[in-house]
Amino acid sequence: MMRTYIIGFMVLFGGVYAKHELYDGHILYEITVQHADQVQFVSRLETLLHVDVFSYAVPGRPGHVLVSKDNRELFENELSAAGIEYKIVVENIKDMLDLEDKLLQEAVSKSSNRTRNGGLSFDRIYTYAEIDAFLDDLPRLFPGLVTLVNAGNSVEGRPIKYIRISTTNFQDPIKPVIFIESLLHAREWITLPITLYAIHKLVIDVTEQDLLQDIDWVILPIVNPDGYVFSHAESRFWRKNRAPGALCAGVDLNRNFDVNWGTASSSIACMETYHGPRPFSEPETSIIRDIMLEHRGRLQLFLDIHSFGSLILYGYGNGVLPPNGLILHTVGVHMATAIDAVKASWNPNYTVGNVALVLYEASGSAGDFGQAVGVPLSYTYELPGYRFGIGGLGFLVDPNFIEQAGMETWEGIKVGARYIRDNYRLLNV
Ligand SMILES: *[C@@H]1O[C@H](CO)[C@@H](O)[C@H](O)[C@H]1NC(C)=O
Ligand SMILES: *[C@@H]1O[C@H](CO)[C@@H](O)[C@H](O)[C@H]1NC(C)=O
Ligand SMILES: [Zn+2]
Repeated sequence: MMRTYIIGFMVLFGGVYAKHELYDGHILYEITVQHADQVQFVSRLETLLHVDVFSYAVPGRPGHVLVSKDNRELFENELSAAGIEYKIVVENIKDMLDLEDKLLQEAVSKSSNRTRNGGLSFDRIYTYAEIDAFLDDLPRLFPGLVTLVNAGNSVEGRPIKYIRISTTNFQDPIKPVIFIESLLHAREWITLPITLYAIHKLVIDVTEQDLLQDIDWVILPIVNPDGYVFSHAESRFWRKNRAPGALCAGVDLNRNFDVNWGTASSSIACMETYHGPRPFSEPETSIIRDIMLEHRGRLQLFLDIHSFGSLILYGYGNGVLPPNGLILHTVGVHMATAIDAVKASWNPNYTVGNVALVLYEASGSAGDFGQAVGVPLSYTYELPGYRFGIGGLGFLVDPNFIEQAGMETWEGIKVGARYIRDNYRLLNV
């Protein structure tokens, strides 16, 4: 009897806590580089040691790297030899993963899940299945305003659904279209509340009628459902989709678009920035492409929501500015200023700039593809990365930041929306 009890207990306990064994002993480093050679050096270490670069270090902006116990000595020696400064942010990342689990589970058990008027509450992180059910409900709750589109299936066969929000069923050519998506990268869980918040403010708790009357919206909360499910069930820091591969699974969807494809990404399937066998090899990216092409001309603002870094980035990823670079920058600054005005006090102000100049060169991104097919304002948001009041935890979610993230980011989105509303009308009237 006692024996069964103990085994039962261990199975239960194991089920709850075993999933982060994968990361036991992994160390999170913050590294500081001084010049381009050191940037290159870290990038070579990534290929050599298969360390997980959470964020790349560039001069003036520290980076964060997750390193397994086995690689620790080698990694530290290599950095020291290259004169690169580093410090340990978290000695064992599993402790932080267990803490995140605990806080998120508490948040779920306290959550009301739904608000008074049928929306989702902003006190927890929802699963793919919950979001799927929520999206299914919306057209029934808000007929004449919300249409659900099942855009096709992910690699593993999960439906990728998005909603169209329009008071005129997308039939009014005078209205510009805005497209927002989140969770292209699976582990960036905090990005989900951004698209959900936008839905909330456009459908459930509408306080700004102009945004609804004057603009048509396409909102896709989970672009990469397989990766998202996998990051919950198996591997918290999973980034790519789940395309099968001989050695390693997954394509980096944000390197798989057909714009300068393969020029600043990895051709090695095991790398986090693996661009896939060919442009648009993945159903997830093809779906985004098709949405953009469907609304070509009217699609005036595209926002691809990522984390982390407190950044608003625009193209191109090779450092070449689009012809409207000045406007891209100006509107980006206005959006950033609006977010900064209400942001959580512990987060830094947003930085705005061309992705290659602020961070690093990257090819085949969703943001670049939007720009290339004629979306005048195409941005990648990188949400703030401070968590639990500690820097560098990046992808981990602090439940206290969920509603704040939705609220503050929405302030930026509104600025971009009103800019294109005013200017698009001028062009077309
Ligand atoms: C909210 O959903 C979670 C998970 O589905 C459930 O455990 C919890 O009881 C729900 N809370 C309420 C108030 O319904
Ligand atoms: C952050 O942005 C706010 C609002 O734009 C500004 O008032 C403040 O000075 C900025 N803080 C820093 C440290 O730059
Ligand atoms: Zn990302």
